[in-house]
Amino acid sequence: MEIKKQTSLHGEITVPGDKSISHRAVMFGSLADGTTRITHFLNGADCLSTISCFRKMGIKITQKDSEILVHGKGLHGLCAPDSILDVGNSGTTTRLISGILAGQNFVSELNGDASIQTRPMKRIMTPLLSMGADIISIQDNGCAPLRITGRPLHAVHYNSPVASAQVKSCVLLAGMYADGITSVTEPVLSRNHTEIMLNYFGADVTSRGTTASIHPNPVLEAREINVPGDISSAAYFIAVGLLTPGSEILIRNVGINPTRDGILRVCRNMGADITLMNVSHDGEPTADLLVRTSSLHGTTVEGDIIPALIDEIPMIAVMAAFAEGTTIIKDAQELKVKESDRIEVMTENLKRMGADIEATDDGMIIRGGVPLHGAVIDSHLDHRIAMSFAVAGTICDGPMMIEGAECVNISYPEFYQDLYRLGK
Ligand code: S3P
Repeated sequence: MEIKKQTSLHGEITVPGDKSISHRAVMFGSLADGTTRITHFLNGADCLSTISCFRKMGIKITQKDSEILVHGKGLHGLCAPDSILDVGNSGTTTRLISGILAGQNFVSELNGDASIQTRPMKRIMTPLLSMGADIISIQDNGCAPLRITGRPLHAVHYNSPVASAQVKSCVLLAGMYADGITSVTEPVLSRNHTEIMLNYFGADVTSRGTTASIHPNPVLEAREINVPGDISSAAYFIAVGLLTPGSEILIRNVGINPTRDGILRVCRNMGADITLMNVSHDGEPTADLLVRTSSLHGTTVEGDIIPALIDEIPMIAVMAAFAEGTTIIKDAQELKVKESDRIEVMTENLKRMGADIEATDDGMIIRGGVPLHGAVIDSHLDHRIAMSFAVAGTICDGPMMIEGAECVNISYPEFYQDLYRLGK
């Protein structure tokens, strides 16, 4: 797909619902008693994979645009699926659902696309095995396909070597089927949507520092969930608003949970003009973001902030290439095991645009202010790579071509329409 340059963006935009929250709403709604109504649900391919897995396990889920009704059957109401559960491209579906499946009284198999079959699953197999689960990687390579034979689980305290909300959530969900209080400690606090939402459904989850604990056998009750706009999707509009001369964009109703708002903190460190309006703390915190063109400078992104912006690093790297001065991104080894190796893929593609960028073991060093031009970008079918370079393409000179551009379907099906809607 060819991306066209745009000048001065104005107007309002509402980005689709948060991907992490949409997944969890379907999962927890399925395990609750009664009908959970979800509004502003993300209709992206990843969340649709979660819906299809729960339908296969006997949960009735109806959908009208972005409104979903999940007819939950309680904690022990899932049925054995009669075929493989297809998780598509979705790491969140795979890792969270594994925690649930480990405690059922049936056997299930999970598989997905070529990317999911390369993503590390040992990180969830290790804690689940320590709880007494029976989970195997069918090719014995630590990746999907996985076979899970549900059985009674033991409560554990798991010290996770990675700050991963998917690992933490997997263990907490398995903990609902365990024989005591299960807890997880992570090196740095990762997104806490599972803890917030499970409590909202009636579970007893406590958080202290970087440790979260859950009591077993909760009675979950159906709820109403209005999913906030995804800050990871808003990131592209923040960037395009900051970088396109003469722009002012209002992004409505964005989730600003402090475990996710690293992008706002980094943009401000780079000199961004972003004003938060209509801040609400009812459940997941939200705000409208007013973004105005700013001249950006380099920064260092490292340490505890990384999990709060891990999915936004491709966009940050592009902003850094357009900014003056040097940006250093470190402590972000996790980028290597996302939908693509995002250190390698960002470096390769930014170099094609003429950027001065160097890959490191745990991040990138970007020397900004070098003139950038359009290029042929290989998205590696990674939605966040495609969207980050689409933003770059609306700002730089010369033709910009994105290969595999349709992969935005994973998290933001209407992305290109929305991107062009704000231009003159
Ligand atoms: C997610 C957690 C993060 C994030 C992913 C969604 C979640 O992954 O990158 O897009 O919904 O829990 P990790 O837990 O692997 O860091």
